[in-house]
Amino acid sequence: MVKKLLRVLAGEAVTPPPVWLMRQAGRYLPEYRALRSQAPDFIKFCLSPAEAAEVTLQPVRRFHMDAAILFADILLVPHALGQKVWFETGEGPRLEPVRDVAGLKKLSYDAGKLAPVMETIRLVRKDLPDNVTLIGFAGAPWTVATYMIEGQGGTGHELSRTLARDDAFFGALMDMLVDATSAYLIAQGDAGAEALQLFESWAGSVPPELFARAVLDPTQRIINKVKAAHPNIPIIGFPRGAGDKLAAYAATGVDGIGLDQMTDLAAAIASVPARIALQGNLDPELLLAGGGVMENEARRIIAAMKDRPFIFNLGHGVMQPTPPEHVAALVSLVQA
Ligand code: CP3
Repeated sequence: MVKKLLRVLAGEAVTPPPVWLMRQAGRYLPEYRALRSQAPDFIKFCLSPAEAAEVTLQPVRRFHMDAAILFADILLVPHALGQKVWFETGEGPRLEPVRDVAGLKKLSYDAGKLAPVMETIRLVRKDLPDNVTLIGFAGAPWTVATYMIEGQGGTGHELSRTLARDDAFFGALMDMLVDATSAYLIAQGDAGAEALQLFESWAGSVPPELFARAVLDPTQRIINKVKAAHPNIPIIGFPRGAGDKLAAYAATGVDGIGLDQMTDLAAAIASVPARIALQGNLDPELLLAGGGVMENEARRIIAAMKDRPFIFNLGHGVMQPTPPEHVAALVSLVQA
């Protein structure tokens, strides 16, 4: 029996569609907060296989989604490159910024630092129900580069765009991230990840003239490398904010595209070839609100996608104050 999510990523339209949610494991769940409160260091928490496996499984146990997403973080790759990464409580990630070639020369990828993630994957696969798919992931190079360069989230990425126009620096950074991210995703596939998602959460901060160099080209190179090692593991790209560039993004070789909540579904259907699965795109604010507005919008999305290979998801991650009962209601509605 081929799992539902994998059938969709192979190009089949399945009714009702499979469902999972970005950030389905996390702070909106009391059982997550209980474990997390005993771990002051977030990076260490991500690199603790027993805890990370438990947190990966929590939402699946509670809500019976069709997929589990590995509990980890996109900033584990800079960590494995040797960059200093930490999380300030209530403020988000901090990194010792890298802004020149001399800084890049101090970094090199140490796969051993991410070996615990592979152990997490093996533990999750042992306990995962037969019909549930395990999705591994990494940040896409531009998105990870913005954190590496800015040293934090929450900026407008001005500095990242300026440095993206410095060919020597940006070319070396993209090469480094393509190699590290490919090795990391291949190792996840070796360990038992059944599908992979590349989070390009900041595709929307790239101007058109940089889009090929910062988003399309590095994404395509990663896909080529991962597919060479694992031709049968499908890859979902999530180019959040890519707007009118979905057709170009589809040509990178992805098997599925995650749509953010600002994307018009008719436009996405028209611009992405029908063999590529679409995923999305309920506004996380409607999940937070719950009730009739959430249900009506979920039904509208499902109806719009009924003839497409389609995976129900949000347009971005679950927001922290979201009541878990709203998640339960949404998953049941989609699966009914
Ligand atoms: O459930 C899942 O989706 C799996 C785990 C996961 C996390 N981060 C756990 C996490 C995944 C897939 C990510 C991806 C990630 N991390 C992205 C791309 C997706 C997106 O949201 O756009 C980005 C940009 C990051 C970087 C990151 N990690 C930030 C900016 C923050 C702080 C913001 C915040 O919400 O506090 C994190 C921390 C983080 N990653 C948390 C979780 C559950 C919260 C940490 C905590 O428990 O305090």
